[in-house]
Amino acid sequence: MENYQMIAKTLAGLENELFAELENLGAVNMLKRKRAVSFDGDDALMMKANMALRTSISILIPIMEFEANDEYELYDQAFAVQWEEIFGLRDTFSLTATVSGEIFTHSKYVALKTKDAIVDRFRKKFKSRPDVDTVDADYQFNVHIQYNKCTISLNSSGDSLNKRGYRTFSNEAPLNEVLAAGIILKSSWNGKDDLYDPMSGSGTFGIEAALIATNRAPGLNRGFGFQRWSDYNQALFYEVKEKLEGDVKESETNIYCRDLLTENIDNISTNVEKANLEENIKVRKEDFFRSEKIGEKGVVFLNPPYGERLQIDEINSFYKNIGDQLKKHYTNHEAWIISSNLEALKFFGLKPESRHQMFNGGLECKLNHYKLY
Ligand SMILES: C[S@@+](CC[C@H](N)C(=O)[O-])C[C@H]1O[C@@H](n2cnc3c(N)ncnc32)[C@H](O)[C@@H]1O
Repeated sequence: MENYQMIAKTLAGLENELFAELENLGAVNMLKRKRAVSFDGDDALMMKANMALRTSISILIPIMEFEANDEYELYDQAFAVQWEEIFGLRDTFSLTATVSGEIFTHSKYVALKTKDAIVDRFRKKFKSRPDVDTVDADYQFNVHIQYNKCTISLNSSGDSLNKRGYRTFSNEAPLNEVLAAGIILKSSWNGKDDLYDPMSGSGTFGIEAALIATNRAPGLNRGFGFQRWSDYNQALFYEVKEKLEGDVKESETNIYCRDLLTENIDNISTNVEKANLEENIKVRKEDFFRSEKIGEKGVVFLNPPYGERLQIDEINSFYKNIGDQLKKHYTNHEAWIISSNLEALKFFGLKPESRHQMFNGGLECKLNHYKLY
Protein backbone atom coordinates (compact mmCIF):
# COMPACT_ATOMS: atom_id res chain seq x y z
CA MET A 1 0.00 0.00 0.00
CA GLU A 2 1.22 3.45 -0.86
CA ASN A 3 1.88 6.16 1.70
CA TYR A 4 0.29 9.57 1.36
CA GLN A 5 0.04 12.69 3.49
CA MET A 6 -2.72 13.16 6.04
CA ILE A 7 -3.55 15.89 8.55
CA ALA A 8 -5.01 14.94 11.92
CA LYS A 9 -6.86 17.91 13.36
CA THR A 10 -7.22 18.45 17.09
CA LEU A 11 -8.22 21.03 19.70
CA ALA A 12 -5.90 23.82 20.87
CA GLY A 13 -3.41 22.58 23.44
CA LEU A 14 -3.55 18.88 22.50
CA GLU A 15 -0.94 18.87 19.71
CA ASN A 16 1.67 17.06 21.85
CA GLU A 17 -0.76 14.33 22.90
CA LEU A 18 -1.89 13.82 19.29
CA PHE A 19 1.72 13.67 18.10
CA ALA A 20 2.52 10.95 20.67
CA GLU A 21 -0.60 8.98 19.73
CA LEU A 22 0.28 9.09 16.02
CA GLU A 23 3.85 8.02 16.73
CA ASN A 24 2.43 5.05 18.62
CA LEU A 25 0.27 4.07 15.64
CA GLY A 26 3.31 4.02 13.34
CA ALA A 27 2.86 7.32 11.48
CA VAL A 28 5.96 8.74 9.76
CA ASN A 29 7.09 12.21 8.62
CA MET A 30 5.12 13.80 11.43
CA LEU A 31 5.01 17.56 11.78
CA LYS A 32 3.32 19.45 14.59
CA ARG A 33 1.13 22.32 13.38
CA LYS A 34 -1.38 24.66 14.97
CA ARG A 35 -4.25 22.45 16.18
CA ALA A 36 -3.06 19.64 13.90
CA VAL A 37 -0.33 17.13 13.14
CA SER A 38 0.50 16.18 9.56
CA PHE A 39 1.87 12.71 8.88
CA ASP A 40 2.34 10.07 6.20
CA GLY A 41 0.73 6.65 6.12
CA ASP A 42 -1.21 4.18 4.00
CA ASP A 43 -4.93 3.28 3.85
CA ALA A 44 -4.60 0.97 6.84
CA LEU A 45 -3.13 3.80 8.93
CA MET A 46 -5.86 6.18 7.74
CA MET A 47 -8.48 3.71 9.02
CA LYS A 48 -6.55 3.03 12.24
CA ALA A 49 -6.09 6.76 12.90
CA ASN A 50 -9.84 7.31 12.54
CA MET A 51 -10.73 4.46 14.87
CA ALA A 52 -7.95 4.66 17.44
CA LEU A 53 -6.93 8.29 17.96
CA ARG A 54 -8.37 9.76 21.15
CA THR A 55 -7.24 13.35 20.56
CA SER A 56 -8.11 13.93 16.91
CA ILE A 57 -11.33 15.48 15.67
CA SER A 58 -10.82 14.57 11.99
CA ILE A 59 -8.34 13.02 9.57
CA LEU A 60 -8.00 15.08 6.41
CA ILE A 61 -6.35 13.97 3.17
CA PRO A 62 -4.96 16.93 1.19
CA ILE A 63 -5.78 16.60 -2.51
CA MET A 64 -4.50 19.92 -3.83
CA GLU A 65 -2.28 22.72 -2.58
CA PHE A 66 -1.95 26.01 -4.43
CA GLU A 67 -1.64 29.76 -4.04
CA ALA A 68 -4.53 32.11 -4.72
CA ASN A 69 -4.42 35.88 -4.39
CA ASP A 70 -8.07 36.55 -5.16
CA GLU A 71 -11.37 34.74 -5.68
CA TYR A 72 -10.75 34.31 -9.45
CA GLU A 73 -7.49 32.46 -8.83
CA LEU A 74 -9.21 30.36 -6.20
CA TYR A 75 -11.96 29.45 -8.67
CA ASP A 76 -9.49 28.62 -11.49
CA GLN A 77 -7.29 26.46 -9.27
CA ALA A 78 -10.28 24.64 -7.82
CA PHE A 79 -11.70 24.14 -11.33
CA ALA A 80 -8.38 22.55 -12.39
CA VAL A 81 -8.71 19.73 -9.81
CA GLN A 82 -9.74 16.45 -11.46
CA TRP A 83 -12.84 16.13 -9.31
CA GLU A 84 -14.34 13.49 -11.61
CA GLU A 85 -11.44 11.18 -10.64
CA ILE A 86 -12.37 11.58 -6.96
CA PHE A 87 -16.16 11.24 -6.95
CA GLY A 88 -19.04 10.66 -9.32
CA LEU A 89 -22.21 12.35 -10.49
CA ARG A 90 -24.39 10.21 -8.27
CA ASP A 91 -22.39 10.93 -5.10
CA THR A 92 -23.29 13.84 -2.85
CA PHE A 93 -20.67 16.26 -1.56
CA SER A 94 -20.24 19.09 0.92
CA LEU A 95 -17.68 21.82 1.41
CA THR A 96 -16.51 23.69 4.49
CA ALA A 97 -13.84 26.38 4.60
CA THR A 98 -11.52 27.79 7.22
CA VAL A 99 -9.77 31.06 6.42
CA SER A 100 -7.19 33.32 8.04
CA GLY A 101 -5.23 36.33 6.71
CA GLU A 102 -6.34 39.45 4.89
CA ILE A 103 -6.99 38.08 1.39
CA PHE A 104 -9.89 35.76 2.16
CA THR A 105 -11.99 36.81 5.11
CA HIS A 106 -15.33 35.02 4.59
CA SER A 107 -15.22 31.25 4.93
CA LYS A 108 -18.75 30.80 3.56
CA TYR A 109 -17.86 32.76 0.41
CA VAL A 110 -14.71 30.66 -0.10
CA ALA A 111 -16.77 27.48 0.27
CA LEU A 112 -19.32 28.81 -2.23
CA LYS A 113 -16.69 29.77 -4.84
CA THR A 114 -15.00 26.39 -4.55
CA LYS A 115 -18.34 24.60 -4.81
CA ASP A 116 -19.12 26.63 -7.96
CA ALA A 117 -15.80 25.53 -9.49
CA ILE A 118 -16.54 21.86 -8.76
CA VAL A 119 -20.08 22.05 -10.13
CA ASP A 120 -18.96 23.97 -13.26
CA ARG A 121 -16.26 21.40 -14.00
CA PHE A 122 -18.75 18.51 -13.80
CA ARG A 123 -21.28 20.43 -15.92
CA LYS A 124 -18.66 21.18 -18.57
CA LYS A 125 -17.59 17.53 -18.77
CA PHE A 126 -20.89 15.70 -18.30
CA LYS A 127 -23.63 18.35 -18.73
CA SER A 128 -24.76 17.27 -15.29
CA ARG A 129 -23.61 17.81 -11.70
CA PRO A 130 -23.51 16.01 -8.36
CA ASP A 131 -25.73 17.27 -5.54
CA VAL A 132 -24.61 19.09 -2.45
CA ASP A 133 -25.71 17.58 0.88
CA THR A 134 -24.77 19.79 3.81
CA VAL A 135 -25.86 17.26 6.43
CA ASP A 136 -24.75 13.80 5.32
CA ALA A 137 -22.60 13.96 2.17
CA ASP A 138 -20.73 10.98 0.71
CA TYR A 139 -17.65 13.15 0.10
CA GLN A 140 -16.84 15.94 2.56
CA PHE A 141 -14.25 18.47 1.42
CA ASN A 142 -12.50 21.23 3.32
CA VAL A 143 -10.75 24.31 1.96
CA HIS A 144 -8.15 25.72 4.31
CA ILE A 145 -6.70 29.12 3.44
CA GLN A 146 -3.94 30.86 5.32
CA TYR A 147 -3.15 34.17 3.64
CA ASN A 148 -2.75 32.99 -0.01
CA LYS A 149 -1.88 29.33 0.70
CA CYS A 150 -4.83 27.09 -0.06
CA THR A 151 -5.24 23.42 0.72
CA ILE A 152 -8.25 21.42 -0.42
CA SER A 153 -8.68 18.22 1.57
CA LEU A 154 -11.01 15.30 1.74
CA ASN A 155 -12.31 14.58 5.24
CA SER A 156 -11.97 10.82 5.78
CA SER A 157 -13.72 10.91 9.16
CA GLY A 158 -17.16 12.18 8.21
CA ASP A 159 -18.73 13.09 11.53
CA SER A 160 -16.30 14.65 13.98
CA LEU A 161 -14.28 11.97 15.79
CA ASN A 162 -15.36 13.18 19.23
CA LYS A 163 -18.68 11.54 18.39
CA ARG A 164 -17.74 8.13 19.73
CA GLY A 165 -21.29 6.80 19.68
CA TYR A 166 -21.73 6.41 23.44
CA ARG A 167 -23.17 9.78 24.42
CA THR A 168 -26.92 9.48 24.16
CA PHE A 169 -27.56 11.93 26.95
CA SER A 170 -25.62 14.90 28.16
CA ASN A 171 -26.05 17.59 30.77
CA GLU A 172 -26.09 21.27 29.85
CA ALA A 173 -22.34 21.72 29.54
CA PRO A 174 -20.64 18.47 28.55
CA LEU A 175 -16.93 18.37 27.81
CA ASN A 176 -15.90 17.49 24.29
CA GLU A 177 -14.81 13.83 24.39
CA VAL A 178 -11.53 14.70 22.60
CA LEU A 179 -10.79 17.36 25.21
CA ALA A 180 -11.52 14.97 28.11
CA ALA A 181 -9.32 12.22 26.61
CA GLY A 182 -6.58 14.79 25.87
CA ILE A 183 -6.58 16.06 29.46
CA ILE A 184 -6.28 12.51 30.80
CA LEU A 185 -3.39 11.78 28.42
CA LYS A 186 -1.75 15.09 29.40
CA SER A 187 -1.91 14.03 33.04
CA SER A 188 0.19 10.93 32.24
CA TRP A 189 -2.27 8.86 34.30
CA ASN A 190 -0.94 5.30 34.30
CA GLY A 191 -4.36 3.72 33.72
CA LYS A 192 -4.14 1.89 37.06
CA ASP A 193 -4.43 4.42 39.90
CA ASP A 194 -7.94 5.24 41.17
CA LEU A 195 -9.60 7.94 39.10
CA TYR A 196 -12.37 10.23 40.30
CA ASP A 197 -14.67 12.59 38.44
CA PRO A 198 -16.72 14.04 41.32
CA MET A 199 -18.82 16.36 39.08
CA SER A 200 -19.35 14.04 36.14
CA GLY A 201 -22.30 15.64 34.32
CA SER A 202 -22.60 13.15 31.47
CA GLY A 203 -19.60 11.06 32.51
CA THR A 204 -17.11 12.10 29.81
CA PHE A 205 -13.93 11.90 31.93
CA GLY A 206 -14.90 8.52 33.40
CA ILE A 207 -15.83 6.98 30.05
CA GLU A 208 -12.72 8.26 28.26
CA ALA A 209 -10.58 7.05 31.18
CA ALA A 210 -12.14 3.59 31.03
CA LEU A 211 -11.53 3.46 27.27
CA ILE A 212 -7.87 4.26 27.98
CA ALA A 213 -7.58 1.76 30.86
CA THR A 214 -9.02 -1.04 28.70
CA ASN A 215 -6.91 0.03 25.69
CA ARG A 216 -10.13 0.26 23.71
CA ALA A 217 -10.04 2.33 20.52
CA PRO A 218 -12.70 5.04 20.92
CA GLY A 219 -14.11 4.70 17.40
CA LEU A 220 -14.97 0.99 17.32
CA ASN A 221 -18.71 1.68 17.51
CA ARG A 222 -19.20 4.27 14.80
CA GLY A 223 -18.99 4.72 11.03
CA PHE A 224 -16.61 6.94 9.03
CA GLY A 225 -16.76 9.07 5.90
CA PHE A 226 -14.28 6.88 3.99
CA GLN A 227 -16.71 3.95 4.19
CA ARG A 228 -18.91 5.75 1.66
CA TRP A 229 -16.17 6.27 -0.92
CA SER A 230 -16.20 4.25 -4.14
CA ASP A 231 -12.68 2.88 -3.47
CA TYR A 232 -13.52 1.82 0.13
CA ASN A 233 -11.64 -1.37 0.99
CA GLN A 234 -14.07 -3.16 3.32
CA ALA A 235 -11.83 -6.19 3.86
CA LEU A 236 -8.98 -3.94 5.00
CA PHE A 237 -11.32 -2.02 7.31
CA TYR A 238 -12.43 -5.20 9.12
CA GLU A 239 -8.82 -6.42 9.31
CA VAL A 240 -7.76 -3.16 11.00
CA LYS A 241 -10.85 -3.15 13.24
CA GLU A 242 -10.36 -6.75 14.37
CA LYS A 243 -6.75 -6.03 15.23
CA LEU A 244 -7.83 -3.08 17.38
CA GLU A 245 -10.56 -5.18 19.02
CA GLY A 246 -7.89 -7.77 19.82
CA ASP A 247 -5.87 -5.09 21.66
CA VAL A 248 -8.68 -4.52 24.20
CA LYS A 249 -7.64 -5.70 27.67
CA GLU A 250 -9.28 -6.31 31.02
CA SER A 251 -8.86 -3.61 33.63
CA GLU A 252 -9.21 -3.70 37.40
CA THR A 253 -8.83 0.07 37.70
CA ASN A 254 -11.32 1.90 39.92
CA ILE A 255 -13.01 4.70 38.04
CA TYR A 256 -15.57 6.71 40.01
CA CYS A 257 -18.16 8.97 38.37
CA ARG A 258 -20.27 11.03 40.73
CA ASP A 259 -22.67 13.91 40.50
CA LEU A 260 -25.12 15.78 42.66
CA LEU A 261 -28.11 15.41 40.36
CA THR A 262 -30.17 12.25 39.99
CA GLU A 263 -30.94 12.98 36.33
CA ASN A 264 -27.21 13.24 35.57
CA ILE A 265 -26.56 9.93 37.33
CA ASP A 266 -29.24 8.31 35.16
CA ASN A 267 -27.67 9.82 32.04
CA ILE A 268 -24.16 8.72 32.99
CA SER A 269 -25.38 5.17 33.60
CA THR A 270 -27.03 5.09 30.15
CA ASN A 271 -23.88 6.44 28.48
CA VAL A 272 -21.65 3.98 30.36
CA GLU A 273 -23.91 1.11 29.30
CA LYS A 274 -23.85 2.29 25.68
CA ALA A 275 -20.04 2.34 25.84
CA ASN A 276 -20.07 -1.20 27.27
CA LEU A 277 -18.09 -0.08 30.30
CA GLU A 278 -20.44 -1.00 33.18
CA GLU A 279 -17.77 -3.23 34.70
CA ASN A 280 -15.18 -0.47 34.68
CA ILE A 281 -17.02 2.56 36.03
CA LYS A 282 -18.73 2.99 39.39
CA VAL A 283 -21.51 5.57 39.15
CA ARG A 284 -23.00 7.09 42.28
CA LYS A 285 -25.03 10.10 43.30
CA GLU A 286 -22.96 12.12 45.75
CA ASP A 287 -22.37 15.67 46.88
CA PHE A 288 -18.65 16.29 46.36
CA PHE A 289 -18.50 18.31 49.55
CA ARG A 290 -19.53 15.24 51.53
CA SER A 291 -17.26 12.84 49.63
CA GLU A 292 -14.12 11.05 50.70
CA LYS A 293 -11.42 9.37 48.69
CA ILE A 294 -11.43 5.60 48.76
CA GLY A 295 -7.89 4.50 47.92
CA GLU A 296 -4.51 5.79 49.05
CA LYS A 297 -3.37 7.23 45.76
CA GLY A 298 -5.18 8.49 42.72
CA VAL A 299 -6.12 11.28 40.38
CA VAL A 300 -9.11 13.61 40.35
CA PHE A 301 -10.43 15.21 37.16
CA LEU A 302 -12.80 18.07 37.78
CA ASN A 303 -14.88 20.18 35.46
CA PRO A 304 -16.91 22.26 37.91
CA PRO A 305 -19.75 24.57 36.88
CA TYR A 306 -18.25 27.75 35.43
CA GLY A 307 -20.96 29.98 36.76
CA GLU A 308 -21.75 31.19 33.21
CA ARG A 309 -23.74 28.46 31.57
CA LEU A 310 -24.88 26.98 34.88
CA GLN A 311 -26.15 29.24 37.62
CA ILE A 312 -24.37 28.73 40.91
CA ASP A 313 -24.56 31.44 43.53
CA GLU A 314 -21.33 32.76 44.82
CA ILE A 315 -19.14 30.89 42.43
CA ASN A 316 -15.93 32.09 44.10
CA SER A 317 -16.76 30.52 47.44
CA PHE A 318 -17.91 27.39 45.59
CA TYR A 319 -14.40 27.10 44.10
CA LYS A 320 -12.79 27.84 47.47
CA ASN A 321 -14.81 25.00 48.98
CA ILE A 322 -13.66 22.64 46.22
CA GLY A 323 -10.02 23.50 47.05
CA ASP A 324 -10.67 22.98 50.78
CA GLN A 325 -12.36 19.64 50.17
CA LEU A 326 -9.49 18.42 48.00
CA LYS A 327 -6.90 19.47 50.61
CA LYS A 328 -8.83 17.79 53.40
CA HIS A 329 -9.99 14.55 51.85
CA TYR A 330 -7.82 13.83 48.82
CA THR A 331 -4.25 13.92 50.16
CA ASN A 332 -1.71 11.99 48.04
CA HIS A 333 -3.88 12.59 45.02
CA GLU A 334 -3.29 14.71 41.96
CA ALA A 335 -6.03 16.97 40.67
CA TRP A 336 -6.64 18.37 37.20
CA ILE A 337 -9.26 21.11 37.08
CA ILE A 338 -10.60 22.70 33.92
CA SER A 339 -12.66 25.86 34.09
CA SER A 340 -13.34 28.98 32.07
CA ASN A 341 -13.93 30.94 35.26
CA LEU A 342 -10.38 32.23 35.71
CA GLU A 343 -11.49 34.54 38.52
CA ALA A 344 -13.07 31.75 40.56
CA LEU A 345 -10.02 29.53 40.03
CA LYS A 346 -7.98 32.07 42.02
CA PHE A 347 -10.06 31.16 45.09
CA PHE A 348 -8.92 27.58 44.96
CA GLY A 349 -6.28 28.16 47.61
CA LEU A 350 -3.77 25.81 46.01
CA LYS A 351 -0.72 26.59 43.91
CA PRO A 352 -0.86 24.82 40.55
CA GLU A 353 2.10 22.68 39.44
CA SER A 354 1.29 23.66 35.88
CA ARG A 355 -1.33 25.62 33.93
CA HIS A 356 -2.48 24.99 30.38
CA GLN A 357 -4.65 27.09 28.11
CA MET A 358 -7.47 25.11 26.51
CA PHE A 359 -10.81 25.74 24.83
CA ASN A 360 -14.06 24.02 25.70
CA GLY A 361 -16.64 24.58 22.96
CA GLY A 362 -15.32 28.06 22.15
CA LEU A 363 -14.87 29.07 25.80
CA GLU A 364 -11.30 29.88 26.78
CA CYS A 365 -10.36 27.73 29.79
CA LYS A 366 -7.50 27.09 32.12
CA LEU A 367 -6.50 23.55 32.94
CA ASN A 368 -4.64 23.57 36.27
CA HIS A 369 -2.70 20.67 37.73
CA TYR A 370 -2.38 20.42 41.51
CA LYS A 371 -0.49 17.99 43.73
CA LEU A 372 -2.24 17.41 47.05
CA TYR A 373 0.28 16.57 49.70
C1 LIG B 1 -19.72 21.56 33.91
S1 LIG B 1 -20.67 20.21 34.48
C2 LIG B 1 -19.62 18.82 34.19
C3 LIG B 1 -19.71 18.33 32.79
C4 LIG B 1 -18.99 17.03 32.56
N1 LIG B 1 -17.55 17.17 32.61
C5 LIG B 1 -19.41 16.40 31.25
O1 LIG B 1 -18.55 16.15 30.38
O2 LIG B 1 -20.60 16.20 31.04
C6 LIG B 1 -20.60 20.38 36.20
C7 LIG B 1 -21.34 19.31 36.97
O3 LIG B 1 -21.11 19.50 38.37
C8 LIG B 1 -22.23 18.99 39.05
N2 LIG B 1 -22.21 19.50 40.43
C9 LIG B 1 -22.42 20.76 40.87
N3 LIG B 1 -22.27 20.82 42.23
C10 LIG B 1 -21.95 19.58 42.65
C11 LIG B 1 -21.67 19.00 43.92
N4 LIG B 1 -21.70 19.72 45.03
N5 LIG B 1 -21.35 17.69 43.98
C12 LIG B 1 -21.32 16.93 42.86
N6 LIG B 1 -21.60 17.41 41.62
C13 LIG B 1 -21.90 18.72 41.52
C14 LIG B 1 -23.40 19.47 38.21
O4 LIG B 1 -24.55 18.69 38.47
C15 LIG B 1 -22.85 19.29 36.80
O5 LIG B 1 -23.24 18.06 36.26
